[in-house]
This record gives sequence, C-alpha cells and structure tokens, in this order.
Amino acid sequence: MEFQIGVISGDGIGPEIVAEAKKVLDRVGEKYGHTFHYTEILMGGCSIDAKGVPLTDEAIEQAKASDAVLMGSIGGNTSTSPWYRLAPELRPEAGLLKLRKSLNLFANLRPAYLYQELKAACPLRDDIIGDGFDMMIMRELTGGLYFGERKTEEKDGVLTATDTLTYNENEIRRIAKRGFDIARKRRKKVTSVDKANVLDSSRLWRKIVEEVAKDYPDVSYEHMLVDNCAMQLVKDPKQFDVILTENMFGDILSDEASMVTGSIGMLSSASLNDTKFGLYEPSGGSAPDIAGKGIANPIATILSAAMMLRYSFDLDKEADAVEAAVSGVLKEGYRTIDIMPQPGEPQEGITQVGTAEMGDRIAERI
Ligand code: IPM
Ligand code: MG
Repeated sequence: MEFQIGVISGDGIGPEIVAEAKKVLDRVGEKYGHTFHYTEILMGGCSIDAKGVPLTDEAIEQAKASDAVLMGSIGGNTSTSPWYRLAPELRPEAGLLKLRKSLNLFANLRPAYLYQELKAACPLRDDIIGDGFDMMIMRELTGGLYFGERKTEEKDGVLTATDTLTYNENEIRRIAKRGFDIARKRRKKVTSVDKANVLDSSRLWRKIVEEVAKDYPDVSYEHMLVDNCAMQLVKDPKQFDVILTENMFGDILSDEASMVTGSIGMLSSASLNDTKFGLYEPSGGSAPDIAGKGIANPIATILSAAMMLRYSFDLDKEADAVEAAVSGVLKEGYRTIDIMPQPGEPQEGITQVGTAEMGDRIAERI
C-alpha cells in the first residue's frame, strides 16, 4: 500500500530523531511491500525563521492532505532563544497548539511501559518496580487551560495575568469514551484524574465520566485527585492501566510517567481525532542542550511511528515488528546515554550508542 506522511522535523533534536524513524519506516516498507511518501512540513522555530510564524496556513493544509503526520519536536531554550522574545502567539509552541486545534486532535495517547531490560535505568526501587508496569495515559488535548481565554493586564497599577480552564460536557464525554474504549482492549481499568475537591471543571469531568462509565459495565473505574496521582505514580505505578485526564494534568503526569519508565526518550504518543488521521510525536521536548550531538534517544519517535502504522494505517503486523525490533535491540544491550544503567547498577553487556546507530540497529532487526 502507499501512504502519504507529513513530516514535521521541527527544532532541536527533532530532525535527528525523525531521520531514524523514517529509516525504520523505510525498512518496514521494504520488508512488507509498502511505500511511504514524505512531505516536509515546517512548524515551530524553523518556521518562525523561514516564514515569520510558527505555523502557516499552507502547513496546516499540507498536514490535512496527509494520511498521518510524524513529528519530532519543536521549540528552543525558553530562557535564551530569541523565539521566546516574540509575542506568545508567535512562539514555537503556538504552532503545535494551533495544529492540534485545527485538526481537532482531541485524544492524546501516551503509553508508559517499563521494558524489563530498562529496569536498571528506572529511578524507582526494585520492590516498587516488581514485574514492571504498563499504563496508557489518555490526555484530553484541545481544551482546558491550553485553549481558554488568557490575558495579562494592569489592574490598579498591578500586573495581573489570567488563564481560563473551560470544559464542556461534550468535550469530556468524547475523551472519556476513548479512555473506556481503550481500557476495554487492555486490563479494563480506568483511573480518571481530576481536582474535583477544588475545581468546577473537575466536578463536571467526574459527573460525565460517571455517566460514560455506565455504558462500560465490564470496565472498572475510579476517580483520583491529581496530586494523589502524582504521588501514586512513584509509589505504586503498577496499579494503573488507563489514566484518563484533562489537558494540563495529562501534560504533567505524562512526563512523570515517562521518567519512571527510565527516560522521556522512550515515551511515544498519538494524537487522534474522529477519523483515521493522527499526529504522532514523542512526548519529550526538543532538548536544545543536546541537539546536533547525535546522542538523543530516537526510540520514542520510532515507537510513535509504530503507533502511526497501527492507528492510522491499520498495519498491526508491521507495528508489532517495529515494537519487537525495539525490544530486541534493548535485549542485545544497546542503549543511548539517557537509558544507560544508573550509577551503581551493573553495566555488563551494555553498549552505549548514538542516535543513528540506535536507528540502524532497530531497522536491521525488522
Ligand atoms: C507536550 C509538550 C507540549 C504540551 C508543549 C510543547 C506545548 O509539552 O506535548 O507534552 O504542553 O502539550
Ligand atoms: Mg509535555
């Protein structure tokens, strides 16, 4: 089959990690008889430099014309990069938010899974890790604080900033359904995370989740306050199957969840709408401090490409092959620097490799 993939390499380590994902996709194409066509789409800082804005209308159209979009990362160092002296709506991240909104990508799936081979990179104690953990964070992506009205004004000579957190019941219902649907295919447990002891938006969230849950009698569910969830993720991550939560809580908890799996360089993600289209990106940032050094971990991007094969192209066998290749390479002991064993853990049989070699090893095993 033939597929049209929009590629947003972006900034920082983006181009390096995307190159490895394309390498793996091309190998999949060769082996299974598919052709992947790529169109480069500008977004983020590189688009600001070339076009004066982080995302042009043309770029949105290019994304819409693709079967799916594979993305690296966007943005720079927020304290030193000139991009962050621009008005907020002209900064790199505004491009990503605009793209998510324009394509209605409301459902963000972030799987956090501990590979047995990476136990030594996990900062948690062995008795907490146990047999490992495997959770899916279902983050709402087009509502809440990210898209509410915001302003900074002077009130009686005092600078005052406001951000608004709004959710309507339809936005909550559609993401809750996605959460329960995916739980049905997993271990059938949803933990809905909110701050219902303080926020109205969370109280509505809870009410709608309870309504949706009635249609899924085979799936168990619980509510958890977000502060408690942050604690439980390091205390007992095994308890989680699907974490269902709103935009900002999901942003924060997914970084935390990724770190307990060893590294943010391992966490893939899929942002989906009501169609087969999806935007696939690693959950980590552009890591400007290590950009161009050839040491970034490409695995999250490669696993995001596997999610693209699975969710947008219905190529399950091919997605399985990519995931198995990643496991295989980890079993062989290859590690980028971020997933090297913690000091004091055995280093035997472990080989540190750079970005391109990791990509080569994974592609070879397909
Ligand atoms: C993420 C990122 C983005 C977000 C940034 C780059 C706007 O942190 O995808 O988690 O906050 O959603
Ligand atoms: Mg984030």
